[in-house]
Amino acid sequence: MLTLGILGSGSGSNMQAILDAITVGTLQAKIAIVLSDNPKALILKRAASHGIPHAVIDCEGHKNKFPDYVQIETAEKLKQAGVDLVCLAGFMRLVKAPLLDAFPSKILNIHPSLLPAFPGVAAWAQAVEAKAKETGVTVHVVDSGMDTGLVILQEKLDILPAETADALHKRIQVIEHRIYPMAISQYAHSLNL
Ligand code: GRF
Repeated sequence: MLTLGILGSGSGSNMQAILDAITVGTLQAKIAIVLSDNPKALILKRAASHGIPHAVIDCEGHKNKFPDYVQIETAEKLKQAGVDLVCLAGFMRLVKAPLLDAFPSKILNIHPSLLPAFPGVAAWAQAVEAKAKETGVTVHVVDSGMDTGLVILQEKLDILPAETADALHKRIQVIEHRIYPMAISQYAHSLNL
């Protein structure tokens, strides 16, 4: 059975969507562990309420960095939980060599734009600010760059006239919740996981 580990820093709505897809059987997998660098993140509460093992990745004292020693500990936790595929879901730190080497080509991310357009934070707000006509959602393999890895699945979305960044993000999230479980399933099959 495909065994997932999820890393997130925020609300965990994508983690919930993955769990819902597992529950209805459109994604054949289990979530073995949920990890967050933010002790107060809702994603941890969601994991707890579903009885999913969860833990804090302690990055205290490192504002935006994901220090190597913490990445090594994270990789160990994921391996101990038997994880074959790691899914970033709103995880706000850049993953580098220690974790990438432990899971080569086996870390996915969901990004709220049509990459390579608008990498980085709050991509929906960047799109509105740039007066873009369209944006979308990308699921990609994580490499050492910021939102630069191999694209697995993308879906476009027209930006409505005078649409606010918040309203756009809500519509983007509807797409995210539908395509992330699909992309995970497709990618896992392609790797025979
Ligand atoms: C999503 O929009 C995702 O694309 C971005 O961060 C947000 C996380 O949302 N990387 P959630 O925590 O899954 O609700």
